[in-house]
Amino acid sequence: MRNDSDFPLMAAPLQGFTESPFRHFHAEIYGTGAMNVTYFSPFLRLEKGDVRPRDMREISTPLNGNHQLIPQIIFKNPEEFTLLVDKIKSAGHTSIDLNMGCPFVPQVRKGRGAGMLSHPDVIEEIGNLMAEMPDITFSLKMRLGTASPREWQPLVDIINRMPLEHVTIHPRTASQQYGGELHTDEFSEFSSALIHPVIFNGDITTPSMIDSLRERHPSIKGIMAGRGLLMRPSLFNEWTENREWPREERIEKLLQLHNAIFNHYRLTLTGGDAQVLSKIKPMWEYFGADFDRKAVKKILKANSLTNYTTAISSLTR
Ligand SMILES: Cc1cc2nc3c(=O)[nH]c(=O)nc-3n(C[C@H](O)[C@H](O)[C@H](O)COP(=O)(O)O)c2cc1C
Repeated sequence: MRNDSDFPLMAAPLQGFTESPFRHFHAEIYGTGAMNVTYFSPFLRLEKGDVRPRDMREISTPLNGNHQLIPQIIFKNPEEFTLLVDKIKSAGHTSIDLNMGCPFVPQVRKGRGAGMLSHPDVIEEIGNLMAEMPDITFSLKMRLGTASPREWQPLVDIINRMPLEHVTIHPRTASQQYGGELHTDEFSEFSSALIHPVIFNGDITTPSMIDSLRERHPSIKGIMAGRGLLMRPSLFNEWTENREWPREERIEKLLQLHNAIFNHYRLTLTGGDAQVLSKIKPMWEYFGADFDRKAVKKILKANSLTNYTTAISSLTR
């Protein structure tokens, strides 16, 4: 076991994947409560001037009771920011993560997510509002820029003046979306210019990658994993135990996690097979990483719960 409980491990927000059932059953089955693990909700946003009731339910459900959760928000101006913060406060949360990294073009064009990086004046205003909310702990998740990995440069002083618990950096630009090279040199420069603790996020898929990242960037204060944690939900356990789990062990637990989420959807969703399938099948985009491609394709093609469960039981362990 590593004696490294002050190195936080963070489960990244992924819309459509890391909602409360994933977080709850991941925390339960992998026992992350005993480790320094924090989960982030997919971003909450305004729709027709208010937070969607579904998103409010997501951050208020008792499923959140077994893990440390930080809700994330996406916004384009101080009005949206204040409304979202008030709503999240009313649900009893005292920590909020700010999204300045979402690369989805319609959001970016409106100045939300990574689009905010082109509006230093708005970021400054948000920072001033945050300073008036000492009861809330804020953190920030961002990219290096929208088109160039150097767009962070004029933002350093503004971000340093914001009251932030940490800054998570995904060292890509928004135009790179989720692929292409990670700009690790720019990451190093940016993180050494920041006074806040820096969390590294991007392409972490194995426990040993956490160690090599820390060797390469000794100043990072924690890591955040998204797709890597979905592909290998034991990632944090393996790193904490300092032991790579054999494939059978990883798969046994992953199927346990899948079954718990699947059963939860079967019991709680009222829209029939199609709704259950629409929630559970996309998980295989990542859960399927350790399995035969053809077997995973069968799962993705299943058009009834019967076909789906047959496809799951024929996976080679
Ligand atoms: C399908 C999908 C949904 C995502 N949703 C969010 C989100 O709601 N908020 C956010 O900050 N990042 C979101 N991200 C970005 C991830 O949190 C993360 O920054 C990115 O995937 C890189 O980390 P990874 O390589 O560990 O996955 C999303 C990424 C994907 C692929």
